Amino acid sequence: MSRGKFITFEGGEGVGKTTNVAFVESYLQARNISLVVTREPGGTKLAEKLRALLLDKKSEAIAEEAELLLMFAARAQHIKHVIEPALARGDWVICDRFTDATYAYQGGGRNMKISHIEWLENLVQGNLRPDLTVLLDAPVKIGMERAGKRGAFDRFESETVQFFEDVRRAYLLQAEINPQRIKLIKANQPLADVQQTIINVLSPLLR
Ligand code: TMP
Repeated sequence: MSRGKFITFEGGEGVGKTTNVAFVESYLQARNISLVVTREPGGTKLAEKLRALLLDKKSEAIAEEAELLLMFAARAQHIKHVIEPALARGDWVICDRFTDATYAYQGGGRNMKISHIEWLENLVQGNLRPDLTVLLDAPVKIGMERAGKRGAFDRFESETVQFFEDVRRAYLLQAEINPQRIKLIKANQPLADVQQTIINVLSPLLR
C-alpha cells in the first residue's frame, strides 16, 4: 500500500475553506479514494480541547508565546494520532488549516519570529509537509463580511482589519516561497471557477 497524500486548505477568515473542503471530499470519494477529513487546531480529543481554549474570547489574555505553543501542541497530537497513521495506511488526509496558518497568524498577524516557527515545525513535524496546499485568497473586507454572517466572532475573528491584512500578506509570502506546494486560488470568483481550479491543481496527485 503506498502512502496517502496530505492536502491542506488555507486562507483568511470567510474565504470558503469549509465549502471547498467538502467539495474535495466528495470529489475524491467519487474516485474511490479513502480519506480522512480533519482540521487544525483540532482533530483529536485533546487537540479539540486546545482549540476551544485558543478560540475562547472570554479567556485571560493569551501570551503570544503560549498561543504559538498551544497551536503546535495540538498539531503534535493531531500528527501522532490522526495524520501519520492515516497516511501510513494509504488514506489521503484533507486538513482545514495546518502550519501555513501558523506562519500567517502567529508569524504575520502576531509578528512572531519566523525562525521560532521553523524550529517548532521541524521539532513537531520532522519531515512531514503537505503534498499540496490550496490557498484561498480574497480581500480582507470581503472575507470579513462573509465570516460576519456566520454568527458570533471567536477570539481570532475579533482581531482588527490590520491583523488580517498582515495574515493575508504572510499567506501570500508563503505561497511565493513554496510555489511547488502552495497553489494560490482567488476566492472571490464564482464558486464553479474556484472548484474547477481546485480540480486542476489536484489532478497531478491523482495520476
Ligand atoms: P477556523 O479553522 O475555524 O478558521 O479557526 C481556527 C482559527 O485558528 C483561525 O482564526 C486561524 C487560527 N489559527 C492560528 O492562528 N494558527 C494556526 O496554526 C492554526 C491552525 C489556526
